[in-house]
Amino acid sequence: MSIKNILPLSIFIVLIACSQPKSELTKEIQTDLIEKAEVTDLHSYANMNEVNTTHLHLDLAVDFDTKSLIGSVKHTINNSKKTTKIIFDTKQLLVSKVLLNDTEETTFTVSEGSELLGNALAVVINENTKSVTLFYNTFPESEALQWLTPQQTAGKTQPFLFTQGEAILTRSWIPCQDSPSNRITYSANITVPSHLMALMSATNPTEKSEDGTYSFEMTNPIPSYLIALAVGDITFKDLGGKTGVYAEPSMLEKSANEFPEVKDMVVAAEELYGDYKWGRFDILVLPPSFPFGGMENPKLTFATPTIIAGDKSLVSLIAHELAHSWSGNLVTNATWDDFWLNEGFTVYFENRIMEKIFGTERSDMLLSIEYQELLHENDDILSGSHPEDTHLKLDLKGRNPDDGMTGIAYVKGALFLKTMENAVGREKFDVFINGYFNHHAFQTITTEDFIAYTNENLLTPNNSDFNMDEWIFEKGIPESCVKIESERFKIIDAKALLIPEMKSISDLNINKEALTTQEWIRFIRQIPAGTSVKKMAELDKAFNMTNRGNSEVMAEWYIQSIRKGYTAVNASMEAFLIEVGRRKFLEPIYTELAKTEINLSLAKAIYAKARPNYHAISFNTVDEILGW
Ligand code: BES
Ligand code: ZN
Repeated sequence: MSIKNILPLSIFIVLIACSQPKSELTKEIQTDLIEKAEVTDLHSYANMNEVNTTHLHLDLAVDFDTKSLIGSVKHTINNSKKTTKIIFDTKQLLVSKVLLNDTEETTFTVSEGSELLGNALAVVINENTKSVTLFYNTFPESEALQWLTPQQTAGKTQPFLFTQGEAILTRSWIPCQDSPSNRITYSANITVPSHLMALMSATNPTEKSEDGTYSFEMTNPIPSYLIALAVGDITFKDLGGKTGVYAEPSMLEKSANEFPEVKDMVVAAEELYGDYKWGRFDILVLPPSFPFGGMENPKLTFATPTIIAGDKSLVSLIAHELAHSWSGNLVTNATWDDFWLNEGFTVYFENRIMEKIFGTERSDMLLSIEYQELLHENDDILSGSHPEDTHLKLDLKGRNPDDGMTGIAYVKGALFLKTMENAVGREKFDVFINGYFNHHAFQTITTEDFIAYTNENLLTPNNSDFNMDEWIFEKGIPESCVKIESERFKIIDAKALLIPEMKSISDLNINKEALTTQEWIRFIRQIPAGTSVKKMAELDKAFNMTNRGNSEVMAEWYIQSIRKGYTAVNASMEAFLIEVGRRKFLEPIYTELAKTEINLSLAKAIYAKARPNYHAISFNTVDEILGW
């Protein structure tokens, strides 16, 4: 992911950048924070330090004909400094009218803004203003929204809509103070065509309403990027405990069969790090264009259907999104420079859940795969134009937060915590992490807050000289990093080495029924350079790689096939690229194709057909790879 073009920022932004947004907190927590430095979020125009939203209420109609949301958002505000204007983030939407306290019309201005951050919308208020209601509509291009035609769904008969707010896209469907440093509660009345169901990151229905109206409530304060909406022909199945799954009718059984372990994951997570604070944990399986593997929308994780492998082999993604219910949703990164606090913690926690349920053999394989990816990505970033992007604490000033969403935040972040765990011992570390989540519950924190808390509550009491700075403020992976090893992968690696010279497949001595998905991924990755097309064909025939049906295995196989010139995969790869919009798969496949002239033209031909199916998040990335 590279930098998006940013228009020169106006003086206005500079003014805002110098202001000091602060989160809305309960009185008790506020006293606790008095000594703390205020937070500056360079990815928001909002003046949260002076006046901030505490609750927002949405009243929206979902119109599939015009591909727009039409209605209003009412912000309940806390004008602590008695200021005369409140600034909201907006992008690709049109505000037509603004009312104060439900009735008084007021004036507002919209800044010229930037391609990255959108437009600041300043509303004139006064010291008696309790609420600000903005009437608005979105456009088909509004980036957070993807409007799917019936053809792009599993059922092929009804349209579908979903939103993706993280990192800074909520402002393209709700005019709001779009910064993770401000927490709000929300409620909503949503009207949809009567045969469809609406779901949000809130209390949800389990059945369609008669008239297409739905009401929602999120009573825990959350950052704006976690507000989410999905509308479609959706049905529900209970999965036991506090878990359940939503999917299109034709996907519901398959999805339920994939997730029997989810309720155990919730139990495991609570045993590790304390009560689950969000009531239910449900999963919505989206159509295949969903640009991510998963998104931790509170109460309702959004997930790609590409994890429905038929054998439960890809459920670690659910453990990841569940872990966010603590790291991310309960304790939130204050700015996108602190993104590792969300994702590094979550990968660490995800791995602990996987270990607790499935044992260390599986959790070590999962982490080992990620570690291998991290080493490559670390090298790539170090040799690029922003080597300091290998620090955990980022500096994304003037850049797209997307640039910081690399394996550094995820895997270097997780390895940092794992290395620290090793240094102090698991027992003490777990007590510390429990305390960390409790102490910061429903707060947003910076990396500096984390450092102070960790020194005070973990390192100093244990007389540890653990060096956090080299992880957080220095480049690359520290020498002290724990070694990630998997015995099963050592065996697989030895087998893969034999491929170029094998006389027949039986030389590899692989019992194909006995290998796990993670071993297949590893095996494919380790196919040596110089392996012939003929050998690739033999592997394909023996192990049914191309048509495996497991998205992770297939994506890995396509990449190796492109490298080795094994073109027999092309038809399958084309179908995959047209169907699946998950950026994690698209990015490496298109990048590999873009390396030679002939494959680049193939990629462009496929992309011409595939692009209309992708969410903006994915096509923006692929556009850059292919020079579209
Ligand atoms: N919160 C992220 C997704 C995200 C990150 C969206 C940054 C927008 C900006 C989510 O929890 C995530 O990390 N998803 C991963 C899966 C995970 C198992 C690593 C993904 O989508 O691949
Ligand atoms: Zn995540």
